[in-house]
Amino acid sequence: MPEGVLVRAENLGKTFSTPAGDVVAVDDVTFDVLRGETLGLVGESGSGKSTVARLLMWLQEPTSGRVLFDGTDLAGVPGRELRTVRRRMQMVFQNPYGSLLPHYTAAGNVAEPLRLHSIGDKDSRRERAKQLLDLVGVNPRFADLYPRQFSGGQQQRIAIARALALEPELLVCDEPTSALDVSIQAQILNLLDDLRERLGLTCLFISHNLAVVERLANRVAVMREGRVVELAPTEELFRAPQDPYTRALLGAVLPVRGQRAAS
Ligand SMILES: Nc1ncnc2c1ncn2[C@@H]1O[C@H](COP(=O)(O)OP(=O)(O)OP(=O)(O)O)[C@@H](O)[C@H]1O
Ligand SMILES: [Mg+2]
Repeated sequence: MPEGVLVRAENLGKTFSTPAGDVVAVDDVTFDVLRGETLGLVGESGSGKSTVARLLMWLQEPTSGRVLFDGTDLAGVPGRELRTVRRRMQMVFQNPYGSLLPHYTAAGNVAEPLRLHSIGDKDSRRERAKQLLDLVGVNPRFADLYPRQFSGGQQQRIAIARALALEPELLVCDEPTSALDVSIQAQILNLLDDLRERLGLTCLFISHNLAVVERLANRVAVMREGRVVELAPTEELFRAPQDPYTRALLGAVLPVRGQRAAS
């Protein structure tokens, strides 16, 4: 495996059995996430983006194929050691309020992963949580407020601080700004961009919106009906999309060459 690869999805497949029959959510998906890059993952609702994310994080096991994290096949990692691998990858979700513990304060939420991994003592964890809050732009003076007392954008900052507590190498962001006001979205995107540079993070950034991904991603993978139909450097994908579906997706969010986007 090339040294530049942090995570490899190899012929990944996931089929869900439902009362209505089998649903093929992910179908033979192969791609690499390179160290230090932000890989955008786009595609319409139901195309399998979140399922790919859960498979990479090993929150769900694939029906077929492999996930290699830093060269290690996650299927072969025993349960106890999986905890150690999982520390190295964290996730930020669409709905920040739902992902925070409502009865824990901001600092309590951020310190929780440290507590679960028995890192430091109560005081040092609290101190670290305050530093992390500061890092993501939440005033540490508000460390003892509860999630509901913060705005959506601030809640997402707290969720990001919590995701960073264990100093992960991979940050998977699944539609991290879709639930936020448009004016706040840009601030969170700037924050993520800033953090990934300062902390040298590798990111998988999921969105159904190509325009959002264009800002952050070095490369973009386009999913349709469980498959990756195109993967290219961002600039190239936007300049010369190869797949008809990518072109359609681009047309839906951006005016294309003299033509207005359908509204
Ligand atoms: N646990 C499950 N059981 C059954 N079907 C599922 C399950 N999880 C996902 N699916 C199905 O798999 C397909 C892919 O879903 P997924 O959530 O990965 O799509 P997505 O691209 O993230 O969509 P969105 O943009 O709406 O978040 C969908 O048809 C979905 O209904
Ligand atoms: Mg999703």
